[in-house]
Amino acid sequence: MKGSSMTTVVLLLVMVMCGGMSNAHDDQPPQSVFDITKYGAVCDGKTDISKALTKAWCDACASSCASKVVIPPGDYLCGVTNLAGPCKAPIELEINGNLKAPSVIKGEDWLVVQYVNDVKIFGTGTLDGQGGQCWEKKGDRAPNMRFQNINNGWVEGLTSKDSKFFHMSTLYVKNMTLTKLHMIAPAESRNTDGIHISRSSCITVTDSTIATGDDCVSMADGLDTITIRNVKCGPSHGISIGSLGKYVTETPLKSITIQNCTIADSDNGIRIKSWPDMFSTSLTDVHFEDIILENVDNPIIIDQMYCPDGACKSKGPSKVQISDVFFKNVKGTSKCKEIIQLICSSSHPCQNVQMCDVDITYEGGVGQAVCENVKPVISGVMNPKGC
Ligand SMILES: *[C@@H]1O[C@H](CO)[C@@H](O)[C@H](O)[C@H]1NC(C)=O
Ligand SMILES: *[C@@H]1O[C@H](CO)[C@@H](O)[C@H](O)[C@H]1NC(C)=O
Repeated sequence: MKGSSMTTVVLLLVMVMCGGMSNAHDDQPPQSVFDITKYGAVCDGKTDISKALTKAWCDACASSCASKVVIPPGDYLCGVTNLAGPCKAPIELEINGNLKAPSVIKGEDWLVVQYVNDVKIFGTGTLDGQGGQCWEKKGDRAPNMRFQNINNGWVEGLTSKDSKFFHMSTLYVKNMTLTKLHMIAPAESRNTDGIHISRSSCITVTDSTIATGDDCVSMADGLDTITIRNVKCGPSHGISIGSLGKYVTETPLKSITIQNCTIADSDNGIRIKSWPDMFSTSLTDVHFEDIILENVDNPIIIDQMYCPDGACKSKGPSKVQISDVFFKNVKGTSKCKEIIQLICSSSHPCQNVQMCDVDITYEGGVGQAVCENVKPVISGVMNPKGC
């Protein structure tokens, strides 16, 4: 048998085994479907579906052809669930139901997807973290959905509400798009960042709305090629890079683009923050472009003396090197007089910061710009003046 006809036979065999023959004409790859209600999941909002979901995932994951786990519409209670690979073939999770977390979770996980390549998670469903009880306390740290050690992921369409901690987070993820997401939690809810990205590369967040009690998008160390585009934030604490320099293990960050985003009714607009006098790392090649800020407290802020609640031991200069930061076409309104604060490190001054067409007005009068240890290159419109 020649190689090509051999391939055809093998392909046909796989398609038959996967029940995909009916799809053969519309260019869809063959795919097996694993419906959690066939695994004993009951949609009464009271019976924990985590075992049924895990079992369906395991069968799908063990399938040698592409597979999909389906959560049909309805209300479900779902306990801590670990959806882990490696899987034998691409896998999808379609969530059309409303998943409720237990009101108390001990530990740092609710829904975790990890050690898997080629995974798509999508649907019209809701992840409801039931966070209400724990925003007052400091201990609860379970994000609604955590992605870890994933290559080639796609997350689309879901609603995430009232998370106990972050709504979604990525750790050691390579190449993932998160799109058309809707995140919501009360403005006063603690630590409910929308999307937290760390130790990841090629992550794109687009076309999403995030209204939450903490950062809209937060980025920690170890990043390369991150794009945040067409995102509407607010209320929130804005889009933040950092805090950096708190831990000895931090790795560099580079190539971060925040484009065409609106941040409204938020404590901060676009922010970079690092701790004074602790550990070193670097941040370079950051682009804030086409940003609208409405009714924001600190519209543009680089804070290298970040020390919330007096939590730093020393007020010496930050050891984090920031370079090549571009603000282009940033417009809007500020609730505070100090519209621009670029407070860079005296031992590691910010290098090559450029501002082009920045036009932000203070609602109560003439706004200010404050710059330390940085000489921004300014072009086009510049309001406020001062740096
Ligand atoms: C990135 O992931 C997507 C699936 O989300 C995939 O289609 C694409 O080929 C991946 N890109 C690379 C360079 O692997
Ligand atoms: C900018 O983002 C908004 C949504 O936030 C979207 O409607 C608009 O099409 C985007 N513009 C471009 C040029 O992508």
